[in-house]
Amino acid sequence: MGIEPNILENKKRHIEICLNKNDVKSSCNFLKFVKLKHNALSDFNFSEINIKEEIFGYNISMPVFISSMTGGGKEGNDFNKSLVRIANYLKIPIGLGSFKLLFKYPEYIRDFTLKRYAHNIPLFANIGAVQVVEFGIFKIAEMIKRLEVDAIIVHLNAGQELMNVNGDRNFKGIKESIAKLSGFLSIPLIVKETGFGISPKDVKELFRLGVSYIDLAGSGGTNWVLVEGIRSNNLNIASCFSDWGIPSIFTLLSIDDSLKANIFASGGYETGMDIAKGIALGAKLIGVAAAVLRAFYDSGEDAVFNLFSDYEHVLKMSMFLSGSKSLSELRDNKYFLSSYLLAELGVFKQFYEA
Ligand SMILES: Cc1cc2nc3c(=O)[nH]c(=O)nc-3n(C[C@H](O)[C@H](O)[C@H](O)COP(=O)(O)O)c2cc1C
Repeated sequence: MGIEPNILENKKRHIEICLNKNDVKSSCNFLKFVKLKHNALSDFNFSEINIKEEIFGYNISMPVFISSMTGGGKEGNDFNKSLVRIANYLKIPIGLGSFKLLFKYPEYIRDFTLKRYAHNIPLFANIGAVQVVEFGIFKIAEMIKRLEVDAIIVHLNAGQELMNVNGDRNFKGIKESIAKLSGFLSIPLIVKETGFGISPKDVKELFRLGVSYIDLAGSGGTNWVLVEGIRSNNLNIASCFSDWGIPSIFTLLSIDDSLKANIFASGGYETGMDIAKGIALGAKLIGVAAAVLRAFYDSGEDAVFNLFSDYEHVLKMSMFLSGSKSLSELRDNKYFLSSYLLAELGVFKQFYEA
């Protein structure tokens, strides 16, 4: 299908709706049932703790990235530009929002060509899997080249589309297009969900299709069926999906360790402790979207800096207190799970056979 005529208005409304956490948060966040192990005998200097990572040829300051949000229109542009500058200063990767609108409004290209503000960091462009089918890999690849990004994220968002009366309905061909695009591009292809997660079986399938990295974007945070339900005043339908999806930790706990170096986790990660837990479970990086949006719209750029400063401190504190000097030590058997989560995970593994 084509681009909705009111796409810019929708994006503005999405931001407004997402600012009200209680309205749009999925009721399915299991991070609180993961605990890190306390180590009273950590025998090293706090200053030795190293949270730096390396990805796509860049050294980044912590294993966190700002997940794709908006772009285009006055609001989106200011927001994107500020966030890219902040990310560059902080040395963390950032994904831009979907560039779908550029096929209808090419004049907005300036809002998406932000590499000049992102010299220090990997910058990701973003497009829906359905648009890869719709526009074809050559047009998509040409656009990616113009945007001068370091990697491309292809998002899967069927829940959101089906809840939108003007949304996409035809998802035929997405797997083939993902496979073709991954073979065609010279930059890494990341595939992500947008808040309902990716099962262990689909993780394997995506890697088989040639995808380089997967961002699980699981349930537990922003629920896009609820967002669209609020926008269209159709909560009767949307609220049926308030606990839909797969929390990223279920997939992390079910896949082979060998895959985890290419797995990002996101969806409902809001605090430094959430980030520490996701890393302990083996994720390469943790993506944060709504928490950054709310900080920015509440109190501007300073609030985003404060948020990341808190992330750094909590991550380092939890590393010290669990006896981990490096991220690889944090990833080495530093968590335990509540009996409730263990039971849920058993059921998950039984029914979502990898
Ligand atoms: C205002 C807003 C706009 C978003 N736009 C996009 C987008 O254009 N492309 C995309 O892949 N994900 C988009 N997302 C989804 C996020 O990247 C993320 O996957 C999801 O919100 C779950 O993370 P969270 O719980 O930290 O919000 C958007 C999220 C928000 C809050």
